[in-house]
Amino acid sequence: MGQVPRAKPWLLLGDGQLALHLRTYLRQLDIPCHQWSRRQGWHETPPPGGAPEPTAALGAFDRVLLAIRDDALADFVSRHATSEGPTWVHFSGSRRIEGAWSAHPLCTFGPEPYEPAVYPTIPFVVESEGPRFDELLPGLGNPSVAIPAADKPLYHALCVAAGNLTTLLWQRFFAELEGRWGIDPELVAPYLCQIAANLQSADRQRALTGPIARADRETIDQNVEALDAAHLDDLAQIYRVFVDSTQPVARETAA
Ligand SMILES: NC(=O)c1ccc[n+]([C@@H]2O[C@H](COP(=O)([O-])OP(=O)(O)OC[C@H]3O[C@@H](n4cnc5c(N)ncnc54)[C@H](OP(=O)(O)O)[C@@H]3O)[C@@H](O)[C@H]2O)c1
Repeated sequence: MGQVPRAKPWLLLGDGQLALHLRTYLRQLDIPCHQWSRRQGWHETPPPGGAPEPTAALGAFDRVLLAIRDDALADFVSRHATSEGPTWVHFSGSRRIEGAWSAHPLCTFGPEPYEPAVYPTIPFVVESEGPRFDELLPGLGNPSVAIPAADKPLYHALCVAAGNLTTLLWQRFFAELEGRWGIDPELVAPYLCQIAANLQSADRQRALTGPIARADRETIDQNVEALDAAHLDDLAQIYRVFVDSTQPVARETAA
């Protein structure tokens, strides 16, 4: 993936978690880009002309990458985007923004940059009504899929349920084990790694183990009672809901 010749650099807006990773990846790809954020103004080099606000220099850019909060997107684009200016791209998995196309990176972006090998593997989800991913962000070369824009809220809710809710569950698990019995989260990390590895295997349908997979009603009831007795009501509730919705699968697996 060499540098794609282009007349104008890109403009990256924001200095949050996604902006850090996009900046790292664009550097890795040698894609010329200027970054601006409310806190810092221009990061490193301002564009030729050196306007203090990027919105005064939009003609200097080929793409505007909006790595800003979802709830700021619509207002920012409606105030600054024009039909003849650069292509505006945002990264929200759920929002549909008039005047900007979405390219949602299906990944989680923390406070530290990732290894260079990670970035090209991240899939992007674009809107099927809009440009293809390679037209929207030429030179990235990542895998991509398109879905109808109207389906984005559901798509994003599923991403959050799978990625963010499990993160909350694991954080809770680490905290409960450490707080109650002094168990170091490091000691538990291989359990998490193996669960992820089993889910990534070709046989991911059989990744579920334990009492729910075995349809072991007695152990399930004991588990839920223990959570109730420890006043971990939210976990007990989640457990019950998952058992109820998973039982037919568990019976099939156990049969
Ligand atoms: N992080 C992820 O894992 C992830 C994954 C996929 C997609 N995304 C998407 O990436 C985008 C950014 O998310 P993030 O996680 O990077 O958020 P973040 O770390 O909270 O950063 C948000 C950035 O938005 C800026 N901002 C907020 N309101 C603004 C405004 N009115 N004008 C200009 N800048 C404004 C903030 O600047 P100030 O500090 O000045 O407020 C900050 O630089 C969102 O659309 C999100 O859905 C994130």
